[in-house]
Amino acid sequence: MKNLTTTLARCAAILGLPLGVSVAGAGELPAVDLARAAEISAARCGLCHGVDGDSSSPLYPRLASQHHQYIAKQLADFKSGRRKSDTMESMAANLTPEEMLALGVYFEQKPTKPRPARDVELAGVGRYIFHRGNESAGVPACAGCHGENGHGTEQLPRLAGQVPRYIEDQLRSFDTRARTNDNAIMHSVASRLSELEIKGVAMYISALE
Ligand code: HEC
Ligand code: HEC
Repeated sequence: MKNLTTTLARCAAILGLPLGVSVAGAGELPAVDLARAAEISAARCGLCHGVDGDSSSPLYPRLASQHHQYIAKQLADFKSGRRKSDTMESMAANLTPEEMLALGVYFEQKPTKPRPARDVELAGVGRYIFHRGNESAGVPACAGCHGENGHGTEQLPRLAGQVPRYIEDQLRSFDTRARTNDNAIMHSVASRLSELEIKGVAMYISALE
């Protein structure tokens, strides 16, 4: 545990992340062409993510209320191939950096609706992991970086309200390194989670507002 804590603290320091501090999200939003973003969303993103980013399918991540910096970075990484996804690579291929930022701001401004946990006991396992981690396995509390309410910061993603299946998939991809644009932190976190903890934490996160 001590080694992991030291490693995480070092990573966090390099990234300028507030390890151990919970920070509420939203800073000031940059001025962007929101009309253009709305047009792109309706024509090309809405089918999977919902026009307002409130994905209706369990397969696609919710974008509503996500930090614009994170959305813009992921789009740039999909385009360059740093983050691998056949679907998203083609979606991002024609976007300019200005459009990526505009889409980020567009989705960050969209409200989210709460989703009650479908399995309260499973969510209880996740609640423990989220707030306390699992010391015997060296899992740090998710809240230490993503915030007590899972709202994230400008440097790291909001998790609150995310669809559970997507969270599970991403944790498995971080573990196997199939998610290629991570910065080592989430690999080391995910590789210490059991399957039950992955399902539990995903269920708990999905019900956070
Ligand atoms: C055909 C379905 C589909 C369409 C259309 C689509 N996406 Fe996606 N999107 C996905 C899938 C699937 C993922 C998850 C990829 C993965 O597993 O890494 C994703 C992931 C993302 C992510 C990363 C989310 C996160 O939390 O890390 C962003 C940002 C995103 N999409 C934005 C967009 C934008 C903007 C558009 C429109 C220009 C768009 N997507 C169109 C299917 C789609
Ligand atoms: C030391 C800081 C830190 C801790 C602790 C941490 N995370 Fe993360 N997490 C990050 C960073 C940074 C990212 C951004 C992705 C990247 O670049 O690797 C991230 C990304 C994620 C993502 C991807 C979100 C998306 O929209 O695609 C998920 C899911 C996630 N974390 C879940 C968790 C869970 C669950 C825990 C607790 C078991 C946890 N994280 C603990 C720093 C942390």
